[in-house]
Amino acid sequence: MQVLSVTPEIFPLIKTGGLADVTGALPIALAGKGVAMRTLIPGYPQVMAAFKKKKAVYQYPLLQGGKASIHAVQIAGLDLFVLDAPHLFDRPGGPYGNATGADWPDNWRRFAALSQVGGDIAGGAISGYQPDIVHAHDWQSAMALAYMRYGKAVGVPSLITVHNLAFQGQFGAGIFGELGLPGVAMALDGVEYYGGVGYLKAGLQAAWAITTVSPTYAQEIRSPEFGMGLDGLINMRAIDLHGIVNGIDVDIWNPETDKHLVANYSAETLAARAKNRKAVEDRFNLESDDSPIVCVVSRLTWQKGMDILAAVVDGIVAAGARLAILGSGDAGLEGALLAAAARHRGRIGVVVGYDEALSHIMQGGCDAIVIPSRFEPCGLTQLYGLRYGCVPVVARTGGLADTIIDANEAAISAGVATGFQFAPNNGGALVHAIHRLVSAHANPAVWSSIQRQGMKADVSWDRSAEKYVELYRLLLSKRVA
Ligand code: ADP
Ligand code: GLC
Repeated sequence: MQVLSVTPEIFPLIKTGGLADVTGALPIALAGKGVAMRTLIPGYPQVMAAFKKKKAVYQYPLLQGGKASIHAVQIAGLDLFVLDAPHLFDRPGGPYGNATGADWPDNWRRFAALSQVGGDIAGGAISGYQPDIVHAHDWQSAMALAYMRYGKAVGVPSLITVHNLAFQGQFGAGIFGELGLPGVAMALDGVEYYGGVGYLKAGLQAAWAITTVSPTYAQEIRSPEFGMGLDGLINMRAIDLHGIVNGIDVDIWNPETDKHLVANYSAETLAARAKNRKAVEDRFNLESDDSPIVCVVSRLTWQKGMDILAAVVDGIVAAGARLAILGSGDAGLEGALLAAAARHRGRIGVVVGYDEALSHIMQGGCDAIVIPSRFEPCGLTQLYGLRYGCVPVVARTGGLADTIIDANEAAISAGVATGFQFAPNNGGALVHAIHRLVSAHANPAVWSSIQRQGMKADVSWDRSAEKYVELYRLLLSKRVA
């Protein structure tokens, strides 16, 4: 089975969050299950620098305002189609904005182009390659399904995975004329959304099936509270909606072999974590003592509940925990956390920035990782935490609720607890969870049982990749012969 994945990010080439981890790991997990996944990605500078240009497999004299071509390449074990369109993608900064974080004003054009190319490939543009299914991710590639629906590839099954409903790609009606879609597409059951054009909405409407990245989030987005205005449409499509929890790449995230760590270890040699812990203390200027180090590795945003955390840091320190925070995002939140570190020298350390290597050391050396998200489609850092014996403390929402077993009395005595959950998501409940964590940490038998239980959890892609395969098969069975 040939599946074309269309995505704006893929690890290890270009990553701003968990989406890249997922689109990078899924093809590898599927390969062992008889699915050949090829991935179409934009030719950002980092991507173009990763291969030598050969003959293009397809050329566009004009694609959204400039020349473009498609290159078929293999990078880091991934089969890729790279969309080389310098007028759209050859820019410094991130995939969506400039170095100061401001969105590119022509993002609608950039991701319409990516999507159109996805639709063209699905329609047979590349000789010798015909995908059986197209799998799009988030708003940036959602329009591929609209291009398919209103073009040649209308009979090709399609799937969209929603990684985050908060980002929808909504633009004014004025762009419609430049999208190259037929007039009928500008309709309530097409790409039209509140008088403008909605990219994610268009994809949800056109997709043969919709998935999101955990069963709980799949339920949550059917409610107005989590539906971000799309709950009506999602409910209409409820029989085609599936929640498949993310896995992680257990080779990249393996404490026994991880090259970023100061010391490797397994569930049998947890004492070796002390060396990584020392490295964290040094890097974050934390005092050395026996109290637990709770870390944060996150975008610093409202979604991630970083304001909730910032408001109760005094309570967390008073509870006896230290905090090591790595993240970047909202300037206000960065400032609030840096101020907290200044107030609690030696107890709270903050590194503002994005540092993949440091994130590994933190998982390998900190005692716990806190994730107070307001909503969390899946979340990956709690899965890394499980695998590394860095005990997750999570808000009971979305994928966090689905992947962590709370250390309540029953779970502790049954020996199945893997972390701590709290609800409702507010400062009081968060501090209460930290108190529970501190007292569990003070009991080495309980603590190491929680760590080991987490390390035993199956966080690999195996079961979830199987679920995608089942869904692909279901979609193929719906094709009209
Ligand atoms: P989201 O995609 O919503 O940001 P996830 O938990 O799914 O949340 O994925 C976040 C990914 O980004 C994880 O791989 C995490 O380790 C990584 N990450 C987030 N912030 C940082 C940072 N400041 N430095 C290094 N890695 C980070
Ligand atoms: C999004 C979500 C996150 C999820 C990731 C990968 O960024 O916010 O919860 O883990 O996508 O699916």
